[in-house]
Formats: sequence, structure tokens, C-alpha cells
Amino acid sequence: VSPGHEPPNAWLSGPPLAAARLHASHKGSHGDVAVVGGEGLAQRGMGMGGAALLAASAALHQGAGRVLVALLDAGHLEVDLQQPELMLRRFAALELQGLTVVCGCGGGEAVGSVLREVIAHAARLVLDADALNLIARDAALHALVVARGQHGQPTVLTPHPLEAARLLGLTTAEVQADRLDAAQQLAAQFNCVAVLKGSGTVVSAADRVPAINPTGNGLLATAGTGDVLAGMVGARLAAGASALRAASEAVYAHGLAADHWPAGQALTASALARRLSA
Ligand code: APR
Ligand code: MG
Repeated sequence: VSPGHEPPNAWLSGPPLAAARLHASHKGSHGDVAVVGGEGLAQRGMGMGGAALLAASAALHQGAGRVLVALLDAGHLEVDLQQPELMLRRFAALELQGLTVVCGCGGGEAVGSVLREVIAHAARLVLDADALNLIARDAALHALVVARGQHGQPTVLTPHPLEAARLLGLTTAEVQADRLDAAQQLAAQFNCVAVLKGSGTVVSAADRVPAINPTGNGLLATAGTGDVLAGMVGARLAAGASALRAASEAVYAHGLAADHWPAGQALTASALARRLSA
């Protein structure tokens, strides 16, 4: 998926994210994204708001109309003072049926209390980190993910190599020894779009030849950039892109932002999320 090599329409479908917004659009026209997760690598007070807030920030900067955040392991946070446009909600208050949900960026074991419901009901779904680790241990959750594909509910998994290894019952070394095959196995076994992250991220869908993303570099090897990617995929799903298109475009744009990173400035996950709209 690189400029000048636009794949055939049959391969990617859905409106381009960058299409001009209709003058008569309103926030409901651009899709709601709900991030269900938690603190993860919380570094509050250091300019970072934890995994879920990074994903939410990325979705916001990618143009999602409204971004809701349900923090599962937080006490009683009511607003993120650094991003007051994020709408913090209790999980029970979310109406999953109409929502694009990004689940598992932080939240740890608390994700287990909501994951079944999220997989069963979210209209469109990105599963990352803590959600993936729980699915790897629970055949019933695995089966629910597979059923989403049968119901035509778009689903994207975004594992890093260790998470992929857990999902496939392999070692990380085995995943890394044949990343194309591992991504294809993930897509086939979970009946969804799989994004195997790392240098040369692989995007795979069942019955497709997997694609290796050409953008990105070692600047991205810093905590939280994976959470930013999950939010980017979510924003595209909410805007109406297919799972394959949302994943491919997000992975490409995420790497491109790193490739164009200003010299002399540190790439942090929160800075990456903020720069996306540029
Ligand atoms: N080249 C290109 N892309 C890279 C590179 C690289 N050398 N290194 C990392 N990336 C990209 C990956 O492709 C992915 O999109 O950066 C992102 C990193 O995502 P994750 O591995 O999910 O990491 P993240 O969740 O942001 O960081 C938290 O730290 O303590 C660990 O295991 C813990 O997963 C947790 C991670
Ligand atoms: Mg991660």
C-alpha cells in the first residue's frame, strides 16, 4: 500500500479517510470510537496519559467525530485535563452495538470482565495487547472472535510478536522466523484482519496474500506507539473503511509519520498522536 501503487478497488474498499468533509456534516457523521482499556504504561504527570488515552488521542487526531474512553482500572477520573475533548464514560454506559471499539490498550486483567461483551456486541473492533493476551488463554473468546467474521463485523487484531506467539501457541522466535506465515495464520485462525507489528509490519486478511508495510523505522521502538496505532485503526473503521483498508492505511500512515519525524525531536507516543493531524 504505497503511493503510486494503489491496489485494485476489490482489494481495499470504503471511502478514503482524507476525503473532504461535507459542509453539512456533524460530529456524528465521522464515527464514534470508544477506547476500552486502562492505564497500561501510565505516566501521568509526565505528559502521557497511559495506553488507553494514547489510543484515544490518536483516534481524535485522526478525525473521529467523538472519542469515548472507558478506563477499567482507574478510580474516578472524570476528565483528562490535557485532552478535555475526550469523553470519559463508565463501561456500562457504552452502547456497544453502534460503536467502533478499541479494546485492550492497558487495563490488564480488568479487561477480562468486559471482553466477552465487547467481542459479542461491538459494531467494529480493534483488539490489542491485554485483550489479545486474554483471548490467547480462552478458547470461548477465540470462538467469539471467529463468529464476528461470520457475521460480517469488521475486526482487526494488532499483536506485537510476543502477543502473536501467545495467540498462535508458538514461541516469539518461531513467529519472527516466518512473519508472513504467522500473520496469515492469525488471520485464518481468527477469521479477521491481523496486523503483526514490528520492523516490517505485516497486514494479513483471510484468503489474501499478506502485505509488508514499507514505512516506519526504529524511532517507533518506544512505549505507547502501539497504542497510537490501535487508535488510528479505530478512527478509520469508524469512518467506514473496511477492516483491511483501515489496518493497511493506519499502519502505513503510522510509519510515515515516523519517517517524516523532525530531526532533533524525540518521537514519543503522545507526540506521535498529536502530529497525526498534521
Ligand atoms: N521499525 C518499524 N516499526 C517499529 C519498530 C521498528 N524498528 N519498532 C517498533 N515499531 C512499531 C511497531 O510496528 C508497532 O506499531 O512501533 C509499534 C510498537 O507497538 P507495541 O510493540 O505494541 O508497543 P507498545 O504497546 O507501544 O509499548 C508497550 O512495552 O513493556 C512493553 O510489552 C509491553 O507491549 C508493551 C510495550
Ligand atoms: Mg502494544
